[in-house]
Amino acid sequence: MPKVTTIITAGLAAAFAVSVLGLSPAFSSSLDQGKKEFTTYCASCHGLSGTGDGPVAPELNKKPIDLTAFADKAGGVFSRDKVKKMIDGREMPRAHGTPQMPVWGQWFSYQATAGGLLQEDRQAIIKEVNDRLDSLIIYIESIQK
Ligand code: HEC
Repeated sequence: MPKVTTIITAGLAAAFAVSVLGLSPAFSSSLDQGKKEFTTYCASCHGLSGTGDGPVAPELNKKPIDLTAFADKAGGVFSRDKVKKMIDGREMPRAHGTPQMPVWGQWFSYQATAGGLLQEDRQAIIKEVNDRLDSLIIYIESIQK
C-alpha cells in the first residue's frame, strides 16, 4: 500500500524536521494540546470526528476503531487508564495484532530524543510522553458520544 505509507512517512518526516529544528512546543497536558495531537497524528485514519472515517481508512485492511464509542460501550464509563494503555501500545499488545495502528508511546519517546532530550534524561522523556498521551486522553474523553 504505497499511498498509505507515503502519507504516513510524509507526516512523520515533517514532525521529525520540526523536532530536530527545535521548533517543537513545550508539552503539557491540556485539551488544546490533545486536539492538536489528534489532528496531527490520529485524524488521517480515525477521522477528525474520531469515528474511523479518516482519508486513509479505506486503504487499510483493518478499519480504525470508533474512538467516540468507549464510554457508550462501557455503560457510560470512560476508562482513562485503559484507553491510555491502548494508545501507548508499549505495554499492551494490540488487541487484534495488526501493524496498522502505530505504537504511539514508542513514537513520542523517539520524538523526545530527536527533539534534544538525552537518553539518560529518562524522567524528562517519560514526562513528555505522558503529557502527550494524557492530552490525547482528555481530548478523546471530550468527544465521547
Ligand atoms: C495509520 C492509521 C492509524 C493512525 C494514524 C492511528 N490509528 Fe488508531 N487504529 C488504527 C487501526 C487500523 C486500528 C484497529 C486496531 C487493530 O486492529 O490493529 C486502530 C485502533 C486504535 C485503538 C484501539 C487499540 C486497541 O488496542 O484495541 C485506539 C485506542 C486508537 N487506535 C487510538 C489512536 C490514536 C489516539 C491515534 C493518534 C495518536 C491513532 N489511533 C492513530 C489505525 C490508526
